[in-house]
Amino acid sequence: MTILPNFIVFEGGDGSGRTTQLQLIAEYHTTKKLWITAEPTDSPLGCFIRELLHSELTVQPETLAMLFAADRHEHLYAPNGIIERCSRGETVICDRYILSSLVYQGLTCGESLPVSLNKNFPLPSLIVFFDIDPAQALARIGNRLVKDSYEQYAFQTQIRERYRRLLPHYAKKGCCITTVNAAETVEEVQKTVQKLLNHASI
Ligand code: TYD
Repeated sequence: MTILPNFIVFEGGDGSGRTTQLQLIAEYHTTKKLWITAEPTDSPLGCFIRELLHSELTVQPETLAMLFAADRHEHLYAPNGIIERCSRGETVICDRYILSSLVYQGLTCGESLPVSLNKNFPLPSLIVFFDIDPAQALARIGNRLVKDSYEQYAFQTQIRERYRRLLPHYAKKGCCITTVNAAETVEEVQKTVQKLLNHASI
């Protein structure tokens, strides 16, 4: 399995503070050599996925797994996508990637489909896992106007367990894995994240 140098992924359950930290990184690092991005992407396909997650309209979990993988394929291989940018020396930090599919779709449609849909995608060199008690995470996002269908306590508890179970497999495949205590204040988490990025020379 290929590991992409300069490719960093933030993972964690809903409300774990990844997006806030990415916004802070974007404010702090204004260099053109850093691309901060997210999945689902902001492409028409990614927007369609978000619409599905936020609406009453339901599709089969397998359909959603395939849509996430299709969005990821474009994100990686399209011109100016992750692979092109990493190969010209840019650093890419992505909010969610393969592990999100293995964790979320693994729960909703079983292990085998997300594994087979994602098995050929390259791996990041660093995965930062934002770990937090789901009750605290859900309290944080309690004020959000639009919630998605995954934002429930029992589901988020299973999500956390699956992350913890799957992360060591990625360490074995050669990714560097770091767990951040996401229950700390935004400022404390920011310091930890900044140290990690300094260590990765960003
Ligand atoms: P996101 O907008 O990042 O939500 P949040 O900021 O609340 O984490 O992602 C939307 C949802 O999509 C999120 O609940 C996780 C889910 N998701 C999957 O189920 N599979 C995937 O492969 C990805 C990338 C996201």
